[in-house]
Amino acid sequence: MQSLKIRQATLADVVPLSGLIQHTIRVSNSEDYDQKSIDMLCAIFEPEPVAERIENELILLCFMGSELVGTVGLRDDFLRSMFVEPTFQRRGLGKMLVARIEEEARQKAISEMMLHSSMTARVFYEALGYEFVELQSYPEGPFVLMKKPLR
Ligand SMILES: CC(C)(COP(=O)(O)OP(=O)(O)OC[C@H]1O[C@@H](n2cnc3c(N)ncnc32)[C@H](O)[C@@H]1OP(=O)(O)O)[C@@H](O)C(=O)NCCC(=O)NCCS
Repeated sequence: MQSLKIRQATLADVVPLSGLIQHTIRVSNSEDYDQKSIDMLCAIFEPEPVAERIENELILLCFMGSELVGTVGLRDDFLRSMFVEPTFQRRGLGKMLVARIEEEARQKAISEMMLHSSMTARVFYEALGYEFVELQSYPEGPFVLMKKPLR
């Protein structure tokens, strides 16, 4: 059994983090978004914008042994950039990362967590207690605004 480790991202993680996210989008989101949307979503996670995110928000990385297998971010009261490597999905890693970022939010006195869910991830967030707020339309495609009170 390989060890599981969670730590905060630094600028040294930009390239592998960008790679993990773009690969996950291409594999896991293709059923719900067309190719143009997938390309636009991948462009958001090129190394340069990923570096900007690392500098401006809290980003956690999850490693299985030495392999980067998941990530989640927090910017103000928004949970962002939640991705688990496709071959490691449905093992509880996403749930664990959300619990960690919710704890970070509580420590910042955030009383309600917001997020924009992909169509793909909506059932996942519902399973973790997030509620539908509204469907929103972006150039990259539809996303679901969701919220959850943090107690
Ligand atoms: C959404 C995502 C982060 C979930 O990560 P994960 O590690 O697979 O999730 P978990 O294993 O912790 O799942 C927790 C629970 O959520 C629900 N769930 C997760 N994925 C699901 C799916 N595809 N279908 C139905 N329920 C699902 C289940 O209730 C699950 O518990 P169970 O496995 O005991 O039944 C991952 O699938 C992913 O990276 N998806 C593609 C990228 C994406 O859309 N990210 C969100 C951007 S907003």
